[in-house]
Amino acid sequence: MSENILIAIAWPYANAEIHVGNITGSHLPGDIAARYHRLRGNKVLMVSGTDSHGTPVVIAADKEGKPVEEVYKRYHDGFLELFKGFGITYDLFTTTHTENHFKVSQAIFLALLRNGYMFKQFSKQWYSPAAKRFLPDRYVEGTCYICGFEGARSDQCDNCGNVLEPEKLLNPRAKTGDGELELRETEHFYLDLSKLEPAVRKFLQERAGHMRDTVLGESLAKIESEGLKPRSITRDLDWGIPVPVDEPGWETKKLYVWFEAVIGYLSAAIEWAQISGQKDAWREWWANPGARQFYFIGKDNIFFHCSQWPAQLMGAGSAFMQIFAGEEVPLTLPYDVPANQFMNLEGRKISGSRNWAVWGRDALTRYDPDALRYYLTVNMPEAKDSDWDWAEFVARNNNELVATWGNLANRVLAFCYKHWEGHVPPADETALRPADLDLLAAIENGFAAVGAEYEAVRLRSAVAETMKLATAVNQYLDVNAPWTAVKTDKDSAALTIFTALKAIDSLKVLFSPVLPFTAEKLHAFLGYETPLFGEQYIEPIRDSLGVHNGLRYRPAEGAKWKPSELKPGQTLKQPTPLFKKLEESVIEEERARLGK
Ligand code: MF3
Ligand code: ZN
Repeated sequence: MSENILIAIAWPYANAEIHVGNITGSHLPGDIAARYHRLRGNKVLMVSGTDSHGTPVVIAADKEGKPVEEVYKRYHDGFLELFKGFGITYDLFTTTHTENHFKVSQAIFLALLRNGYMFKQFSKQWYSPAAKRFLPDRYVEGTCYICGFEGARSDQCDNCGNVLEPEKLLNPRAKTGDGELELRETEHFYLDLSKLEPAVRKFLQERAGHMRDTVLGESLAKIESEGLKPRSITRDLDWGIPVPVDEPGWETKKLYVWFEAVIGYLSAAIEWAQISGQKDAWREWWANPGARQFYFIGKDNIFFHCSQWPAQLMGAGSAFMQIFAGEEVPLTLPYDVPANQFMNLEGRKISGSRNWAVWGRDALTRYDPDALRYYLTVNMPEAKDSDWDWAEFVARNNNELVATWGNLANRVLAFCYKHWEGHVPPADETALRPADLDLLAAIENGFAAVGAEYEAVRLRSAVAETMKLATAVNQYLDVNAPWTAVKTDKDSAALTIFTALKAIDSLKVLFSPVLPFTAEKLHAFLGYETPLFGEQYIEPIRDSLGVHNGLRYRPAEGAKWKPSELKPGQTLKQPTPLFKKLEESVIEEERARLGK
């Protein structure tokens, strides 16, 4: 039966380029899961977009002396280029700066208000008399009142990972050079998370069977120890989504970026449905208790996705649907939040400002996307922090991708192409020998075994299992040596090559969520005419806020997660090597770029 799978990926801030840590943390695992489910024949909707309203983008624009709109769009367009090059197949990658997102966010706000989960309250915020403005959280830096770290942002400490109450920050200073700061009274809306705490707790407990222990444990422990407290969800700020209340004083305030950005998962589905010409199709993922939603995020986002977002969804629930869809049905809740830990670089924390980073778009100018995807998957920080190491990148590319898998595919295809004139050998399938059948059975089992790993988002293990099967095919070829048999017993060599080709054809599918570009190439060498995957394209989308570019995906037809059905005699295409061996000199060249 075909399932509805929502692949929801953390929305990147529009003030920095994307580096390998971001890619392995969320975009790549999300894409691998999406591709796996599409191969299974499930109905996948993969969405995200640029988190355009955060304070960081305002700071970036201030620094450049450019309008915020121009700066967010420049980063956004860079993201689209990166994802296209990396094969991150968003059905829609949009932005939070759209009329549609404004409307959906405001409807969620109003539903929460109507359901009694919001209240107004005055509080003290940091104000700069010189600049005559309140400084939103991220403009203000100081000492963390929990751990003493001196570079804490006023709303979050990157050292101890806690979400902070901005007014409690010690030794505040303005990041913007706006001079002395003072605390002033200002009124804001609060989301009453304490009222929703029992519902959130129940939501988490119900996911115990399939949510990572690290993620569930952290979320429940936080509720146990501190409980969920009301959180302000508006800010004194020009750039962002207006607060939908008709009272004086609110025109100068906006919805808090963490309140509205998560709503993007829902609004992007609605936008996707509109531009795809199936206006109501978003309901298959959002008003469907059977749909499964997977959220791919980094560990610093766990609170927002495991507690705040489910609280927003449950609190707004059918009242939102009443406002927005004219029908009282509950909103679908997250199924799994496979949050990753962090990836370091050469033993140190990745830092964009110190250029201690491997940037996605830059890396694509020197390396093939599948080589990068492979290393980022085998090194994915699923259970603990991992490390990008250039020597390991070269070694794993050369010893695994090239030597074990690439050479296997290439030598079998090239040999077959030469000796059987560009066709799959005309082997008699009923004559297959026990060793042939054993190998094919082992590979066939891989569809269940490897599939279970993809299904549970254990992607490192999915690749490792597949690579083991490739090693088994290499061993089979060593024993059966078709290269010598072809001279004395061509029929036996034909059986061996036919078996190996079928194994490779199957392994192609098992590897393809991780290595889509080379799998597609291999698929064509094997003589198939319809592609494994669909097509990515960028298209301008117009609404009342202007034009933004969206990354789109046109899916391919059919369920392809099944063992090879390659037939004797099928016409092949002239093969070329799938992967490139890297020189050792790459290691020093790349290390020399860091920190400059
Ligand atoms: N922009 C945030 C970050 O990069 C993530 C936002 S996820 C969202 O950490 F769901 F809120 F959009
Ligand atoms: Zn701290």
